[in-house]
Amino acid sequence: MAVTEGKNNLVIENLSKSFTVNNEAVNVLQNINLEIKEGEFISIVGHSGCGKSTLLKIIAGLVDFNAGVVTLGGKEIKEPGTDRGMVFQEHRLLPWLTIKDNVAFGLYNISKSEKKKVVAEHIDLVGLEGFEKAYPHQLSGGMAQRAAIARSLVNRPKVLLLDEPFGALDALTRIQMQKEILRIWEKERTTMILVTHDIDEAIFLGDRVVVMSSRPGTIKNIVPVELPRPRDRNNSDFGYIRKKIFTEFFKEEEILLDYVL
Ligand SMILES: Nc1ncnc2c1ncn2[C@@H]1O[C@H](COP(=O)(O)OP(=O)(O)O)[C@@H](O)[C@H]1O
Ligand SMILES: [Mg+2]
Repeated sequence: MAVTEGKNNLVIENLSKSFTVNNEAVNVLQNINLEIKEGEFISIVGHSGCGKSTLLKIIAGLVDFNAGVVTLGGKEIKEPGTDRGMVFQEHRLLPWLTIKDNVAFGLYNISKSEKKKVVAEHIDLVGLEGFEKAYPHQLSGGMAQRAAIARSLVNRPKVLLLDEPFGALDALTRIQMQKEILRIWEKERTTMILVTHDIDEAIFLGDRVVVMSSRPGTIKNIVPVELPRPRDRNNSDFGYIRKKIFTEFFKEEEILLDYVL
């Protein structure tokens, strides 16, 4: 696959991953090929267990793989690095540190005064000004995820990996956070890769929606979302894309498809 424009493209070529369970190799990802352009917003949907988190962890450098190559800006990914940030479903903030100190925790190679400035900028970016001295338990779920996003962006990563970041939030907070991540992406233009169970969320945010199949996880289809932002879930083109993804998802499950649509 040829690397095109954008020096910080993420390129995944012929990636396969298996885990050994009870002395047997279980294929989790098989022959994944995906090129993500610098500044692109990619959504990934797929059934539970199809390898979405494993794929993000491979990009983060947290999990090794059996075959293939993964490069960011032409450099092979072999270990974690500050050029990639990750947000999980749980905020994973340290309970004994304030929000300010949690955001500052992962900052490397930076003077004390610069650190203060960068932390304040990122707390503003996620709309948490006034809560710098609060502790994680004093925040709502949505606010804690904002803090987690600030922490993941503080080192100015080239790629932000979002693993079902709004999965534990209530429906209204979730919609609010989708708007927030859109605002942050439009401001920062960090490449974002979002794993979600929520097809509307995937369409609302993504330039493209990657639909994965299960066991082993492969890319079934990549659906482009060529709609202007902010997107309207009630728009007929939005509905058309939703139907296309659901159809892709439930091809072999006609009863469920009838139910959903
Ligand atoms: N460390 C591990 N050891 C063995 N199996 C694993 C490990 N991590 C994940 N798996 C298995 O790999 C498959 C994909 O997991 P995961 O990437 O978490 O899926 P998803 O995020 O799509 O739900 C699952 O069947 C899971 O049980
Ligand atoms: Mg997962």
